[in-house]
Amino acid sequence: MSPLLASLGRSLGRLMIAITVIIGLSVASPANADNWDAESLTIKSNPEGALVTFSEKDVKAGRKSFNQSCGACHSGGITKTNHNIGLDPETLALAAPARDNVEALVDFMKEPTSFDGVYSLSESHPSQLNTDIFYEMRDLNDDDLEHIAAYILTAPSVQGMQWGGGKIYW
Ligand code: HEC
Repeated sequence: MSPLLASLGRSLGRLMIAITVIIGLSVASPANADNWDAESLTIKSNPEGALVTFSEKDVKAGRKSFNQSCGACHSGGITKTNHNIGLDPETLALAAPARDNVEALVDFMKEPTSFDGVYSLSESHPSQLNTDIFYEMRDLNDDDLEHIAAYILTAPSVQGMQWGGGKIYW
């Protein structure tokens, strides 16, 4: 190879590295970084308030299942057809029973009830009771349900204000 071509090749190589680094930096910029620290990944596991810390991997798996099975109606933590009953921690805590912990959320995905706890939503809300109508629930096992719950409950601390659409303003 001629010296000219070789030096051209080296310059191109350096340019590619520079571009990669610039793109990498902008993706990881603090402005839109998620917080994957242990504190953000620690949530209530049951109504009594015992705590559990999930791994980033589990929560990301939960995010994937959530986007597939729940995203059509709950993308970003809101409820498209009922903005009063979102998936933000404040609203979940006010449901009967409170749905602000892993156990109660998994229970909801198995046997969903209305916000006031009075009637069953097994006819209208996707769950393990109606996988014949809601195919998206068919392939989810108990681990998947836990990971979905973990995603919902860690989203406020991992993703901050992007979750629940800033309920205060409704
Ligand atoms: C077809 C639309 C739709 C899909 C898909 C859906 N939901 Fe819902 N979800 C709703 C509606 C509507 C409500 C409000 C129900 C009511 O009237 O009480 C709701 C309520 C909830 C609540 C109660 C929220 C609270 O603040 O008490 C939880 C928890 C929930 N959904 C979780 C899920 C999960 C997890 C999935 C995926 C496995 C899912 N939903 C899929 C429409 C949907």
